[in-house]
Amino acid sequence: EIKNLEEIFEQKIARDEKIEPKDWMPEKYRKTHIRQISQHAHSEIVGMLPEGNWITRAPSLRRKVALLAKVQDEAGHGLYLYSACETLGISRDELYDQLHTGKAKYSSIFNYPTITWADIGAIGWLVDGAAIINQVPLCSTSYGPYARAMIRVCKEESFHQRQGFEIMMTLANGTPEQKEMAQDALNRWWWPSLMMLGPTDAESVHTAQSMKWKLKRKTNDELRQQFIDQTVPQADLIGLTVPDPDLKWNEETGHYDFGEIDWEEFWQVVKGHGPCNKERMSARVNAWEKGEWVRDAAMAYAKKQEDKKLR
Ligand code: 3HC
Repeated sequence: EIKNLEEIFEQKIARDEKIEPKDWMPEKYRKTHIRQISQHAHSEIVGMLPEGNWITRAPSLRRKVALLAKVQDEAGHGLYLYSACETLGISRDELYDQLHTGKAKYSSIFNYPTITWADIGAIGWLVDGAAIINQVPLCSTSYGPYARAMIRVCKEESFHQRQGFEIMMTLANGTPEQKEMAQDALNRWWWPSLMMLGPTDAESVHTAQSMKWKLKRKTNDELRQQFIDQTVPQADLIGLTVPDPDLKWNEETGHYDFGEIDWEEFWQVVKGHGPCNKERMSARVNAWEKGEWVRDAAMAYAKKQEDKKLR
């Protein structure tokens, strides 16, 4: 019985058909999707913190409105992905508990501080730029709810990337101090953005299986290379220098060769010892505890509405 359920599942994957919540799926397929989708959702929610830090200090109303819209989008992406994850049989409370107790990961990139306004430009340009590269292939991931969530998310990410690059362009074409601010932000965000795409394929424990199940459609190294090839010309265009002395266009391969990534730093940040890990976690736990009355009020209101309908 299980044998042919497995066969039906494998044939669906082979035919690029979507696996839907009610379809039979191997337990490991379910588990790795709960792992990846939940950590993706946690990343969106924690990712609101570094940017939120600048909403009250944006240099103009136009910049404030764009940043407000972006942070609000990230919240929506998080809730979208939590809902996709719940279709795999885990509750929202369990998901939050995994984040707040450190059982679940979120993207390393959000553990770095946003020191100047230029960081908001660098995040939109580099972090959302890398996120788009990573998320476009996820639009054709095999699990239906995840793939469909990604289509909407990717549309909004493109706006995030544009507003970030426009901030960097404005600063790079501004006063010498402004250009220096943009270069300083690029210096601090370049390598962590490369790390965001995950360990090398050789080090990646999940890539092989995730490629077989068409959860991943491109490997970490392929996406990282694509990000570098696309982003270096954008830095050149606005006269900023990528902080990698080994970066060099390779005519033969048609890609940029680049320097060694500091994987020691990466794993330190993933393990919780990055510049802002503690601050990010306490901000989330605080919001959860202090926000309990909001959740209770919303549930009470929803129940009242339900009862009204039944009268
Ligand atoms: N930060 C934290 N942990 C990371 C990581 C990172 N940047 N990259 C990898 N890891 C973890 C993995 O989660 C895994 O640990 P686990 O088994 O406990 O989950 C371990 O390191 C080994 O890495 P693998 O490459 O084997 O893991 P994956 O196959 O899951 O690949 C990934 C990692 C590429 C991040 C993949 O999970 C993925 O594509 N996730 C969906 C996209 C996502 O989560 N992006 C994060 C940022 S969201 C964002 O940028 C929002 C935007 O609006 C700014």
